Amino acid sequence: MNEKHSKPPSTSEQFNKVYSFPYVHWLWSDIRIPKELTELVKTKKPKSSLELGCGLGRYSTFLANQGIRASAVDFSFVAIERARTNSAKYENKPEFLVGDVTNLETIKGPFDISFDVGCFHCLNEVSQQKYVSEVYRLLKPGGTHLIWALDSSPGEMNLNPPFLAKSFEKGFLLVDSMFSRRRIVASHWYWLVRNK
Ligand SMILES: C[S@@+](CC[C@H](N)C(=O)[O-])C[C@H]1O[C@@H](n2cnc3c(N)ncnc32)[C@H](O)[C@@H]1O
Repeated sequence: MNEKHSKPPSTSEQFNKVYSFPYVHWLWSDIRIPKELTELVKTKKPKSSLELGCGLGRYSTFLANQGIRASAVDFSFVAIERARTNSAKYENKPEFLVGDVTNLETIKGPFDISFDVGCFHCLNEVSQQKYVSEVYRLLKPGGTHLIWALDSSPGEMNLNPPFLAKSFEKGFLLVDSMFSRRRIVASHWYWLVRNK
């Protein structure tokens, strides 16, 4: 197989191409809202949320419709345009922003909760550390950041609870993790609480 075509997307240009395909959600989205996210909302009752790597924006659109001031960012402008179109029919829409999760200086926090379904595992270790600093800056002290990540990342890194605990050690505590077969693949949910 031609290696050029077998590699998963990693740059915004590559994701733009993928998001130009109408049924892209079949590749990695799940139509259902993750119960881990709905439970977080039920427990924490956030007034505001920030989603990193929102893709087509389904989860933040769901949160906005619960009355939460939802912001969502993705570096693919094609994804963000589609997210805005998808949410246009709702009265309460998230604020969809084009931006790189390693540098979110245009976004002002703090948010009550933040979450990421499938973005962190797209990053290399240097970018992951920038992401951690941005989440730290944007999340309220004591706020929870929820992540779903593949155990084996597209860049062939092994992600697991000790790795996530170490990645987030500057400013967060990994309070829980759970093995998951979401989208059939081996993966984990991670609950990280920002230090007060
Ligand atoms: C596997 S997709 C998941 C999308 C969405 N969360 C979902 O579950 O349908 C990963 C998303 O992360 C975004 N992404 C990857 N690296 C990013 C970065 N550095 N900054 C912002 N978004 C990024 C991609 O554009 C893509 O939308």
